[in-house]
Amino acid sequence: MSNKPTVLIIGCGSIGERHLRSFQSTGRCHVIACDTRPAILADMAKKYKVETSTDWKLALANPVCKVVVICTPAPYHVPIAIEVLKCGRHCLIEKPIAISLDGMNELTAVHESSGRACHVAYVNHSRPEPRAVKAFLATGKFGRVRAATVVSGQHFPTFRPAYREIYYNNHAQGGGAIQDAMTHMVNLVEWILGPTKSLLCEADHQVLDGVEVEDTVSAIARNQDGAIITYTLNQFQAPNELTIQFNAERGSLKIEYHLNRWGQMALGATEWNWETFKPLDRDGPFVIQANDFLDACEGKATLLATLAEGIQAVRFNLACFDSLKTGTKAWV
Ligand SMILES: NC(=O)c1ccc[n+]([C@@H]2O[C@H](COP(=O)([O-])OP(=O)(O)OC[C@H]3O[C@@H](n4cnc5c(N)ncnc54)[C@H](O)[C@@H]3O)[C@@H](O)[C@H]2O)c1
Repeated sequence: MSNKPTVLIIGCGSIGERHLRSFQSTGRCHVIACDTRPAILADMAKKYKVETSTDWKLALANPVCKVVVICTPAPYHVPIAIEVLKCGRHCLIEKPIAISLDGMNELTAVHESSGRACHVAYVNHSRPEPRAVKAFLATGKFGRVRAATVVSGQHFPTFRPAYREIYYNNHAQGGGAIQDAMTHMVNLVEWILGPTKSLLCEADHQVLDGVEVEDTVSAIARNQDGAIITYTLNQFQAPNELTIQFNAERGSLKIEYHLNRWGQMALGATEWNWETFKPLDRDGPFVIQANDFLDACEGKATLLATLAEGIQAVRFNLACFDSLKTGTKAWV
């Protein structure tokens, strides 16, 4: 038996299978697949030649299992993560980490005393464009960001044909555009600009067939540093595009995911100065994330989303629901 760590993937649905494949492709670990559905496990064993388990608690008791990736629907993330950290295993948790703040204090305390890595799988941290923008803003060359816009959309049924049958159709399971999709944008912006203070949200079900949850969201937010951020996202448009623009005191920065590039324009310039990256395939950022997480397990510093950032993103979601209910501004 090699001394590579064994990674237990809990929940081998859509994203669990992607994590399984991505961790396996690092060549740095062994993988065990866990799901309550035996048919899925038979599929994982056949495709990836991995060991399987229908019971995550039993699998966790195996001493070779040092690392866990939690890929169940959101309501189960926190109770599983608490157990995983209590057992002294490293833990990567899928987003959103929860649908409420229940158990967050316990999770934070258990993590702090565990000495283990615990991160949230906001995969934008593993893409080159936001990494470049974050590093550029940290130089201070353009001053402080005072306003930002996030414009995002895709045809969700094309990317997730089963959307009607999965957690997505139910807020209580982590579904809907706010908790499932916009949370990625929110975490990305908060990673770069810091936490949100307040927001006003408008959202509704506009188009997607067979579900009632919101597929369209707009929010105007203010971060703790005073920057004003406008988010708009829908899940039915034809183009799969994301554009984020950060307007700072002495220049602007732009990310265009669909063109794999980021650009800068200093005040006084008239053209964007672009840096374009080689396109990554759909697993690409997840493989980077898997390598980063294995680094974190070895005690190395990484750019992965922290547990505190994941909890903050849940607060943002809850404030969106609050604002929708009251029709007024909500505090995050
Ligand atoms: N980062 C991303 O890009 C991304 C993409 C999709 C989903 N997600 C997130 O990942 C999570 C899962 O999403 P999904 O699309 O893979 O859902 P899914 O429904 O396809 O898969 C979830 C799996 O978890 C299994 N499961 C549930 N309870 C379990 C338990 N107690 N033990 C073992 N297995 C259990 C289910 O049987 C199912 O196979 C959600 O929180 C979702 O928001 C993230």
